Amino acid sequence: MNDTSECPIGVFDSGVGGLSILQALQQQLPNEAFVYLADSAHAPYGERDEAFVLQRARTVLHLLQEQHQIKALVIACNTATALAIKVLREENPDLPIVGVEPAIKPASVLSQTRRIGVMATAATLSSSKFQDLLAGLSPQAEFVLQACEGLADAIEQQWQQADDQAVLALCRKYVTAMGAFGTNAAEIDTLVLGCTHYPFAIPQLQSLLGADVALVEPGLPVAKRLQQLLSEQQLLSRQATPGLQLMATGETLNLQTAARVWLHQSLPVVRV
Ligand code: DGL
Repeated sequence: MNDTSECPIGVFDSGVGGLSILQALQQQLPNEAFVYLADSAHAPYGERDEAFVLQRARTVLHLLQEQHQIKALVIACNTATALAIKVLREENPDLPIVGVEPAIKPASVLSQTRRIGVMATAATLSSSKFQDLLAGLSPQAEFVLQACEGLADAIEQQWQQADDQAVLALCRKYVTAMGAFGTNAAEIDTLVLGCTHYPFAIPQLQSLLGADVALVEPGLPVAKRLQQLLSEQQLLSRQATPGLQLMATGETLNLQTAARVWLHQSLPVVRV
């Protein structure tokens, strides 16, 4: 078998959201090279149906394999994980694939009030994968689910505007709809960010909810899981050739700006 340990790791999302996962991946795996693809021509995924998201995930995986010979794939998107990871794993049994799901399990350990908010896309919340996860944890806590239509898109587009008022307004709308937040009994003390775009609205969310409410996102656990898989399969890079390439299927400016602002990496974005 060929030694693929020096090949890059593919990471994809519908847009810039997966950078919140990539950030943790780069910190945890500093010797690895990454190729990040934003499927911006087909975003948002969260308001699409299962067949569409599965087809996009397949297409992106093939593109990353053909153009970059990736040694592993991170689906840095809760929606695509919920709707496509099972099939992608069945179709690609030799490729390590790691996904992202709303961190309701860690949240149920963290919460003192046993009342936990979950913000995610409508497609994630209605998926059978998420519903199964929820059913296993529901006896331990009460989960308040909130589909946040338009929020990922507003986070995506915020670079095009002079301020972040659209993001703040949507955050306010959705946290208000979820009820009372705080650390008193019957209040929501833990909020799960179940879409990879939402960590980029943490300043807005924390300003609305106060510092006592814990915001939970899955970047580090995902990075550790990938590290474990690569190590088990002897796929960790031995030559330490880190790097990052950015690609987008549509609009490229959002990704370029987000990578500069959030990852402090000024890189060109290749349109594919
Ligand atoms: N960032 C994606 C997620 O984690 C989806 C955003 C979207 O395209 O709707 O669910």
